[in-house]
Amino acid sequence: MAKLGSSDLPLRVAVVGAGPAGFYAAELLLRNDIHCEVDLFESLPCPYGLVRHGVAPDHPKMRTVINRFDKTGDEEHFNYFGNTRLGADVSVDTLREYYDAILISTGAQKPRRLGIPGEELEGSYSAEQFINWYNAHPAIELKDFDLSSDTAVVVGNGNVALDIARILAHTPEELAKTDMATPIIDKLAASNVKTVYIAGRRGPVQASFTSPEIREFDHLENTAFHINDDAMALDAEDLEELEFKDHGHARKFMPVFEGYADQPTNAEHHIKFLFLRSPISIEDDGEGSGKVAKITLQTNRLSGPAGSRKANSIDETVTIPCGLVFSCIGYRGRPIEGIPFDEKWGGIPNVEGRVIVDNEVQTGLYTSGWIKRGPSGVIGTNKVDSKETITKIVEDVETLNAAPNRSSDALRKQLVREGKRPIDFADWTKISDAEVARAKGDKPREKFLTVEEMLAVLD
Ligand SMILES: Cc1cc2nc3c(=O)[nH]c(=O)nc-3n(C[C@H](O)[C@H](O)[C@H](O)COP(=O)(O)OP(=O)(O)OC[C@H]3O[C@@H](n4cnc5c(N)ncnc54)[C@H](O)[C@@H]3O)c2cc1C
Ligand SMILES: NC(=O)c1ccc[n+]([C@@H]2O[C@H](COP(=O)([O-])OP(=O)(O)OC[C@H]3O[C@@H](n4cnc5c(N)ncnc54)[C@H](OP(=O)(O)O)[C@@H]3O)[C@@H](O)[C@H]2O)c1
Repeated sequence: MAKLGSSDLPLRVAVVGAGPAGFYAAELLLRNDIHCEVDLFESLPCPYGLVRHGVAPDHPKMRTVINRFDKTGDEEHFNYFGNTRLGADVSVDTLREYYDAILISTGAQKPRRLGIPGEELEGSYSAEQFINWYNAHPAIELKDFDLSSDTAVVVGNGNVALDIARILAHTPEELAKTDMATPIIDKLAASNVKTVYIAGRRGPVQASFTSPEIREFDHLENTAFHINDDAMALDAEDLEELEFKDHGHARKFMPVFEGYADQPTNAEHHIKFLFLRSPISIEDDGEGSGKVAKITLQTNRLSGPAGSRKANSIDETVTIPCGLVFSCIGYRGRPIEGIPFDEKWGGIPNVEGRVIVDNEVQTGLYTSGWIKRGPSGVIGTNKVDSKETITKIVEDVETLNAAPNRSSDALRKQLVREGKRPIDFADWTKISDAEVARAKGDKPREKFLTVEEMLAVLD
């Protein structure tokens, strides 16, 4: 029998999740010395993961990586199964029947929760809910937001918090040039939000913002920036930490924060950084409205050595009247039936991309991206990550079991017989072209808001 990975018996790999990790993995497999056929499964009709549904619409350059992913989409030994969710439309057992190896790159979309009273009130949302909405994710439950309040509090000191604050502060004219869907621009144009707090439990030195994202605030029109005084009183450990090699971003953005001391008071929008404050409760108006009316935060002071500074609460609180709270405190993966999952950290247990259970490698099962390493890192980080995993697949090729059924067409037909509607890359291209064709003015595309609208293009 021919060797797996030879031209007579190409290695068949199912990559699940068409975000950056999945596309980089597919590209690296197809460019490898061994012969591969790669099929990419995605639960939505549209590929690209967070590049389409996470990256902020005012960051068009970030989305240009899509051009690279589309080249993979056109490769001869590549098939796309869009609109096909692993665990719902296709099972792990079925993939085992058709593929010699399975690589899971399903990302980490489940928001981490604050776990404080009042988090469930109307007006208190996760970053995922709001970002999926403004980026027109086609499979969301929450399709509207009440933006009538003048104040929003964003909890978290990462780039996701900055994205939300920026989107709330943009003018409709600024948004009109983006790929944000027109009904959402209209809704944001009518927003009453004038003040956005960005609250972090530790200080500015410990924030995980990157400096270009902080500097980008300078381009917001008619917006003033503020920072709490106690945050800027750095102690010896803060100063030591600031010199750390990996604190290059903080070294660059601290002078920007120092400049916030002198800002116009009559600006239309205000962005207020509130460091050293942990939310402890969210409350309604006390008359049973069920809607957010205020948030209370406890003041913290830092202790511990540079590099592992901890927030300790002191006997002081601040209450901010507000109608909106967005928690941007990180994500977890979602488990998939038939795939090992570590509930503790919310990802797939693995060693360098090989999936393990109780330290035992699961033959033919691999992982990459946020579901492999947790929710951190920019788009390019997933290339390095996928490279590590693909290296392991190549090393393992002789130990893999050849799947009995080796036809992607047969799988597609099977899914259709089962009442599913997998779409291929040419179908996706038609949907994408239709979005571009219906865009008006300077907009690069007018995104469809539902899966039904996307599939209707193909009817
Ligand atoms: C709000 C936000 C903004 C960001 N902005 C930037 C930025 O401007 N620049 C930057 O460099 N990085 C940015 N990042 C980081 C970057 O988006 C991530 O590093 C990257 O998207 C992670 O890639 P991934 O492939 O692991 O996951 P994802 O991009 O989440 O892709 C996972 C894919 O798997 C699919 N999927 C999930 N479950 C299943 C299933 N059961 N079956 C089939 N498919 C499934 C999902 O639909 C999704 O398409 C941002 C992240 C967030 C959260
Ligand atoms: N433009 C871009 O390049 C861009 C845009 C968006 C996202 N991204 C990337 O995507 C990744 C994810 O971003 P992210 O912002 O979700 O995550 P992140 O950078 O990990 O930031 C999470 C923040 O949440 C805080 N936090 C966690 N638990 C908390 C709690 N219980 N109470 C209060 N605060 C809490 C953390 O504080 P502690 O530090 O105290 O734990 C941290 O400030 C990052 O790598 C980011 O750079 C990039």
